[in-house]
Amino acid sequence: MRDYLHHILAGRPWWMNPLMLFCAFMTFVYLPWDIFWKPVAVDQEVWFGIQFEGWAAKLTAPFHWFVYGAGYYGFRRMRSWMWPWAAVYTAQIALGMLVWNWITTGGLLGWFVGIIGATPFAGLTFLLWNARSHFQREERSLRERYGEWALVTGASAGIGEAFARALARDGVSVVLTARRRERLETLAAALEKDFQVATRIVVADLGEPGGVEAVIEQVRDLSISILVANAGAGYAGRFEKLEPERLRRMVELNCTAPMLLTRALLPGMCEQFCGAVILSGSVAGRQPLPFHGVYSATKAFDLFLGESLWAEMQGTGVDVVVLEPGRTETEFQAAAGEIPHAGESAEKVVANALQALGRQPSVVSGWGNWLLANLGPRLGPRPFALHAARDVVLRQTPQDMR
Ligand SMILES: NC(=O)c1ccc[n+]([C@@H]2O[C@H](COP(=O)([O-])OP(=O)(O)OC[C@H]3O[C@@H](n4cnc5c(N)ncnc54)[C@H](OP(=O)(O)O)[C@@H]3O)[C@@H](O)[C@H]2O)c1
Repeated sequence: MRDYLHHILAGRPWWMNPLMLFCAFMTFVYLPWDIFWKPVAVDQEVWFGIQFEGWAAKLTAPFHWFVYGAGYYGFRRMRSWMWPWAAVYTAQIALGMLVWNWITTGGLLGWFVGIIGATPFAGLTFLLWNARSHFQREERSLRERYGEWALVTGASAGIGEAFARALARDGVSVVLTARRRERLETLAAALEKDFQVATRIVVADLGEPGGVEAVIEQVRDLSISILVANAGAGYAGRFEKLEPERLRRMVELNCTAPMLLTRALLPGMCEQFCGAVILSGSVAGRQPLPFHGVYSATKAFDLFLGESLWAEMQGTGVDVVVLEPGRTETEFQAAAGEIPHAGESAEKVVANALQALGRQPSVVSGWGNWLLANLGPRLGPRPFALHAARDVVLRQTPQDMR
């Protein structure tokens, strides 16, 4: 059930979900009651700001049912005909608010109340009018959209491996990079066999100086049009207990490597007027994590870098998105020294990233994660959010590292 709800809510920008849910409520709850149970004598419908009563209301209610049913279906499936009709309908409500208040209240007060009532709907009209691209269905494969070759870092496990599979499934040939050669060889063989794509293996340590340069050197002959800068690691524990050298390597891996790889490959993409950059950030990049502070700071770096590039790349043909997973079931927790805990699957996280690519600057995987990442740290008092995060991370931190 949770997966189903997640799947439903993940298909559009967050602010459209309340509209979709409102349409669902009107379609499945309110209008059936209004049409079939509400007594004719007390029935009322408002169209274009004009109030109908009795049988006139009863007979026009099915049109409302149709409109909200179509609205629910259109948001649910993000149908292309929703543009411009969703915007036109909310504009009609805004206008209706003005007319209705003018008729019922009258005078200057009527206009004043009407303008207050119409403003939110005018705002929605503006948003929906500018949301055309969200309603356009992307039928082309990743290879058709971006090109032949992708480079995936951290491809030997978890989210990186899932990215490599998803890209290959869409016909993209993949450069697989990480430190564990055997893992990469097994994956490369599977991708070539299952999806008939080409692969190349590049073994490199991106936490060491020269790692990025070594990767770039080995793909110089390829036109890489998709970069998945995903390799990353955590390091859990009380700050003063963490080894400085391991912290340095983590910052190199999580921040310097994605930055330099992007810097190296972006010019080629801009030249081709076609490309995609996916940076693996984390919800930890939105919420400071006590006992995981350096990791959290590195992911804030990735988020800020990627979102800035998203805006910078507008009009260049290059799409940028920052993937912000919450807890995901990979080798990450063991590598970071955390006590194991449940999470989303890597495949689901990757599907969310690919769906968001070309649509939005960043995507938090999972609505629960979205709420945790946004509501607490942004709306609540800062100390409260930090104490709550501290309690959560402490439970995942081994006793000797607390
Ligand atoms: N899993 C989660 O809960 C979670 C949550 C939020 C964000 N993320 C982010 O998602 C990304 C992928 O994590 P994951 O969950 O897939 O973790 P994972 O299963 O541990 O995979 C990490 C990948 O990075 C590679 N890697 C690690 N250190 C490296 C180094 N020094 N040089 C080159 N490659 C290195 C690993 O390969 P080798 O060991 O073979 O080098 C592996 O392929 C990371 O950026 C992580 O911060 C994960």
